[in-house]
Amino acid sequence: MGETMPAMGGHGAEPPQAAPPASGGEYAKRDFLRLVTGSFAAVGVGVVAWPFVHSMNPARDVLALSSTEVDLAPIAAGQAVTVVWRGKPVFVRHRTPQEVQEARAVPLSELRDPQPDQVRVQKDQWLTVVGVCTHLGCVPLGQKPTDARGDYGGWFCPCHGSHYDTSGRIRRGPAPSNLAVPEYAFMNDTRIRIG
Ligand code: FES
Repeated sequence: MGETMPAMGGHGAEPPQAAPPASGGEYAKRDFLRLVTGSFAAVGVGVVAWPFVHSMNPARDVLALSSTEVDLAPIAAGQAVTVVWRGKPVFVRHRTPQEVQEARAVPLSELRDPQPDQVRVQKDQWLTVVGVCTHLGCVPLGQKPTDARGDYGGWFCPCHGSHYDTSGRIRRGPAPSNLAVPEYAFMNDTRIRIG
């Protein structure tokens, strides 16, 4: 006769019986059943958890808080500012007519990541790009007048020597693609909202 265990609530219920000793094969079978039951439980949790995880995505009003406005009025031609947007540096450069002309004179066939300057800006003189090198994520130099701007007058990444032009396009070095243009909009002639 096996041992009996105390009943857990309820009247008249049969007390559960302890499992009889099992052979090695039966132990293996039980382990397999436990494993299968556990797997189904894990899948069930995944399916139930999704609506909760999905509901944690930021709402539209929360996303609005993660936009950054930039006053362009104080930025003279030839100058640039760096702002932080969603934890990343964003470069806003007031380009001179010569810088614009240089960016537009380059044949697309010479570009590793061919993109006309016109599609990277909304107003000729204002260039806005994410200031993160597309190679391994360093912040390129070129924002200060005293910075090295590389061989193409834009930005130079000192980590491994990537050169970007006055449109933020990769021209030399290991970076595979142009500096990214973030989503932004002009609110008026002298103000942009990034994000
Ligand atoms: S991170 Fe910029 S060149 Fe490597």
